[in-house]
Amino acid sequence: MQEIKFYNGENIPLELHKVRVVQKLHLVPIERRLEALYEGGFNTFRLSTKDVFLDMLTDSGTNAMSDNQVAAMMHADDAYAGSQSFVRLQKAVEDVLGKKYYLPVHQGRAAENILSVAYVKSGSLVPMNYHFTTAMAHITGNGGKIVELLYDEAYVINSSHPFKGNMNLEKLEEMIKLHEPKNVPFIRMEASTNLIGGQPFSVQNLRDVRAIADKYNIRLVLDASLLGENAYLVLQREEEFKGSTMGEVIKTMTDLADIVYFSARKLSSSRGGGICTNDMGIYKELEAFVPLYEGFLTYGGMSVREIEAMAVGLYETLDETIISQSPNFISYLVNALDSYGVPVIKPAGVLGVHIDAMQVCDHISQKEYPAGALAAALFLISGIRGMERGSISNQRDEYGNETYADMELVRLAMPRRVFTLSQVKYVEDRVTWLYDNRKLIGGLRFVYEPPVLRFFMGGLEPTSDWPQKLIAKFKEDFGESL
Ligand SMILES: Cc1ncc(COP(=O)(O)O)c(C=O)c1O
Repeated sequence: MQEIKFYNGENIPLELHKVRVVQKLHLVPIERRLEALYEGGFNTFRLSTKDVFLDMLTDSGTNAMSDNQVAAMMHADDAYAGSQSFVRLQKAVEDVLGKKYYLPVHQGRAAENILSVAYVKSGSLVPMNYHFTTAMAHITGNGGKIVELLYDEAYVINSSHPFKGNMNLEKLEEMIKLHEPKNVPFIRMEASTNLIGGQPFSVQNLRDVRAIADKYNIRLVLDASLLGENAYLVLQREEEFKGSTMGEVIKTMTDLADIVYFSARKLSSSRGGGICTNDMGIYKELEAFVPLYEGFLTYGGMSVREIEAMAVGLYETLDETIISQSPNFISYLVNALDSYGVPVIKPAGVLGVHIDAMQVCDHISQKEYPAGALAAALFLISGIRGMERGSISNQRDEYGNETYADMELVRLAMPRRVFTLSQVKYVEDRVTWLYDNRKLIGGLRFVYEPPVLRFFMGGLEPTSDWPQKLIAKFKEDFGESL
């Protein structure tokens, strides 16, 4: 992509789009934000957007759509079966992802459900670079286990390793030999490992995983939900691909996988999802589950309008100026926070900025959920809604014991083309204030813990009156300011 330099030497990400539809935001007073936290069980998933100022919970279904996506929604072809909207989407999947056979599903986890029901059984082990919450829930729900195989560098917060999402090849082969290939239904590679800081893997790593999959005759499954951004970082960081196009990198990656699945909420800034392959045998193994769980094979639980937006969004994944926007804003904020001393995952990855709550809240034990506490505290003092990606997002083991997360992170998602630079500067300002006042933050405990995916609807409470103390300090420093 062509560089745009500023005369004054400043290095800031310049927006290569203009805003044509806007949504009014509200920054409610801190007292209301405290009430909202109590109403929502100190769980940012349970906040209402009327109380949220900057919604950095996720990029899932919240990326800004393009004018062309919205326009395409208007010529959707409403039909239960054989819709022309589906034909356009099939073509987009083939053009962009290089796969001929496409099964539509209503979102990413629906693809995980189908793959797990079809291939995972009691005793199955699924190696992966790192788990995603819903992928793990479906695999374990079908009697399997996941095995995470990253290199040690992946867990280093302050690193300069360009590909922390790489699969550990030695461990992968060791694991397959130990447990026998027949117990490994597939190898799962997640583009831009969501839970450990949106870190990419290299194309070379994927090639090496493919070679191992071939050696032991195991299917290779690519979770392509964040493939666009992973491909963008390959362009930036992998020597072989300097000067390549997004399309070339994406195809090189998808060609290596037997099955590609994705959440279109992320990949194509729309809704929906899909599973695609070039193998008719695989297609047939999965086909019957679509009408059973999702809907007829030409809509898979999606509305035709979503299907149209998805087709256009897939083509837009090839446009570097669109895909680079979020990683460039993330990189800007990571650099700003890092130079202030706030511990954030480095190098900057995709999806969002990840604050290391283990360091920021080193006075809170993992038993009291430092990342959940930090996410709640940040909302309280700023109206910024981030997401806990730590032990609350983990699931208990088969005996009901807590499993503490490898990393306690607060993720501040940067959906594509949603925030302006002054809003990002506000985030920087409030995060640095909170960092300076971090010792005022206290722990949380569960008062309601759902048995599955507890982070979504779980309810917690503070273990002391720390929120009130934080408000008192906020008032001292900011007076009547919101
Ligand atoms: C890497 C990854 N895989 C799968 C999913 C699940 O997708 P969905 O939320 O559309 O069900 C997500 C969602 O965030 C994700 O980030």
